[in-house]
Amino acid sequence: MKHFLSLLDFSPDELYEWLDLAHRLKQEWQTGGNRPILQGKSLAMVFQKPSLRTRVSFEMGMVHLGGYAFYLSPLEIKMGGRESIPDVARVLSGYVDGIMARVFDHHHILQLAEYSRVPVINGLSDYNHPAQAFADLMTIQEHKGQLPGLKLAYVGDSNNVARSLLFGAMKMGMHFAAASPPGYTLSEEDIHLGQSIRASAWQQIELTENPREAVRGADIIYTDVWTSMGQEEETAQRLRIFPPYQINQELVSQANPDCIVMHCLPAHRGEEITDEVADGPHSVLFPQAENRLHAQKAILVRLLAPDYKG
Ligand code: CP
Ligand code: NVA
Repeated sequence: MKHFLSLLDFSPDELYEWLDLAHRLKQEWQTGGNRPILQGKSLAMVFQKPSLRTRVSFEMGMVHLGGYAFYLSPLEIKMGGRESIPDVARVLSGYVDGIMARVFDHHHILQLAEYSRVPVINGLSDYNHPAQAFADLMTIQEHKGQLPGLKLAYVGDSNNVARSLLFGAMKMGMHFAAASPPGYTLSEEDIHLGQSIRASAWQQIELTENPREAVRGADIIYTDVWTSMGQEEETAQRLRIFPPYQINQELVSQANPDCIVMHCLPAHRGEEITDEVADGPHSVLFPQAENRLHAQKAILVRLLAPDYKG
């Protein structure tokens, strides 16, 4: 039985195969609808944090494939509070065919997977956001045709999303640059891990404090909020530190002329990204958000219907 906890757990071939399936499921959906590959299958969606995209795209993904999904809010099961995480995993495993969870502590998603008898999907933890990065690889393929050799420049807080993008980029043969203020960079362990999974020795990982340096020659500029869920008490301090890392028109003009701008959303417009860029010609923000639906259908099919050959 497979879980979907980190892009580190998948080979490049596997990721390419899942991406191909995602593109096929998208085309199928847009030309008449998906076949009921997940008929009779159910997904429990456990959230310790808010969500728009993850919740709705997983739920609708299940519905489009003939399955059923239901939402368990932070207040409902109080995972780890009212009941231990191993017990939640053991109980849910008796009711459903898969569990998708969004948690604070990454160990909680690992613990869910350890004790679950059904596949567990990571819908974001403080450590990573693999479903987002997987969907982002799909969006990059759509807009750039291929992945190897492209340069992705991440600008801002080196958070869960940045970490999954680093791992995704390394697996798929891309260069990765990150510009973050001191104290908000990826860790040495992240970089070491990234280097250890590179598809090719020529792939670069650049870390800098200078956003203009990071975006030079970039095919993709990526940013995310400066304050992630769970860090709200640091908001004022972060608002003082991060303004030089805003994605604005001037910064975009330093990248390749045909670069795309990505953001996992939700965006704090006027902070990490200007309206002009978010709504401008380089932005792929909303096709990117839509692809969460298509990419996650591929994840759901491969985990909940492993014998499906399509
Ligand atoms: N990008 C993303 O995961 O959005 P939500 O937090 O709304 O799910
Ligand atoms: N880094 C953000 C991503 C939201 C999808 C957070 O964790 O809040």
